Amino acid sequence: MITRNGGARLEIRDLAVAYGDVQALWGISLTVEPGEIVALVGPNGAGKTTTLRAVSGIVRVVSGSIELDGAEIAGRGPHEIVEHGLVHVPRAGSCGRACRSRKPCSSGRTPRERAAEAPRR
Ligand SMILES: Nc1ncnc2c1ncn2[C@@H]1O[C@H](COP(=O)(O)OP(=O)(O)O)[C@@H](O)[C@H]1O
Ligand SMILES: [Mg+2]
Repeated sequence: MITRNGGARLEIRDLAVAYGDVQALWGISLTVEPGEIVALVGPNGAGKTTTLRAVSGIVRVVSGSIELDGAEIAGRGPHEIVEHGLVHVPRAGSCGRACRSRKPCSSGRTPRERAAEAPRR
């Protein structure tokens, strides 16, 4: 796994995720070693996107553990997880016309990095 700081270890254990009352994932466990690239493959509706959303804090984790370099991030919000250098970048077109290239890229930066790049008045 590649993050802002180079490599990081991601370990997901027995993850369960729900959208409101509807449970979408049960018992997901996987490990991504530092520098490793892992493809999540499966049919539509299998839970690939939901798994990634849980890792980046976009959906609610019901139970299980998600550790990034040993730090528990399950249940934290995306604004906290991004501070660890991890961000969800939706595929092109899945976040509307207003969000083509600049927004997904800039959302991966920390508040301090964004402030440093903001135009000065
Ligand atoms: N926003 C949502 N609200 C309710 N259920 C959802 C939502 N998004 C996905 N799901 C459900 O969660 C399950 C996993 O979907 P998803 O993670 O999108 O699968 P994949 O990315 O593998 O196609 C499916 O049953 C899907 O219908
Ligand atoms: Mg998907």
